[in-house]
Amino acid sequence: MSDQRIIVALDVSTATELRELVAQIPNTHCRAKIGKELFTSIGPLAIEICHQAGLDVFLDLKFHDIPNTCAKAVRAAARWGVWMTNVHCSGGTDMMRAAREILEGESHRPLLIGVTVLTSMSAVGLQELGVERDVESQVDHFARLAYNSGLDGVVCSAQEAQRLRESFGKDFCLVTPGIRPSWAATDDQTRIVTPKDAIANGSDYLVIGRPITASDYPEEAIARIVQEL
Ligand code: C5P
Repeated sequence: MSDQRIIVALDVSTATELRELVAQIPNTHCRAKIGKELFTSIGPLAIEICHQAGLDVFLDLKFHDIPNTCAKAVRAAARWGVWMTNVHCSGGTDMMRAAREILEGESHRPLLIGVTVLTSMSAVGLQELGVERDVESQVDHFARLAYNSGLDGVVCSAQEAQRLRESFGKDFCLVTPGIRPSWAATDDQTRIVTPKDAIANGSDYLVIGRPITASDYPEEAIARIVQEL
């Protein structure tokens, strides 16, 4: 497993804020996550700023579209040299397979990860969409579809990591948000797990935002987390 297990969620919206933040993130332990807010605000410049700082980029745009469009978006991400990108498993196996297959022709191949059930989604929310399964079974089902489509792994809650690790083996990449060190505020996350427990549960990469980015001293917050691990 890589030493860079912390993926810092760079949830800011300007190049200035981003530059200030990345200057305080050591690439020895961390990678960077660029999400919809940042990418929609400043576009591929966000990727360039992270790369200039020596940070690998997880482009978290959660693509979900017809197979052709989704695959071409994933290919465009690959051509920006990102380390990881993702698609929604609910786009179906044709979409996931198309995304994986298009990468085979690329000189740089990012890790391709499936989003299972968003952690903000409740059992009631799933029912409303016409899904009969409970949240856990739906996560397992989507993870199976991602695995069978040849994806490299999934985004899931660290509370689900142990189960998925047992089902899909050591090479299936598990990326887990909702991470909170015991000393940090929970914010709006509900199903939280500490960094140490997430790794013990089998998580490969910990997505951590506000405990680092909202700290007055992001570098110190990272050092504390690394020490705990
Ligand atoms: O600040 P915090 O640590 O809660 O940030 C978590 C990051 O992970 C945010 O960018 C959020 O959008 C993302 N995320 C999440 N839950 C998911 C998927 C992504 O919190 N299920």
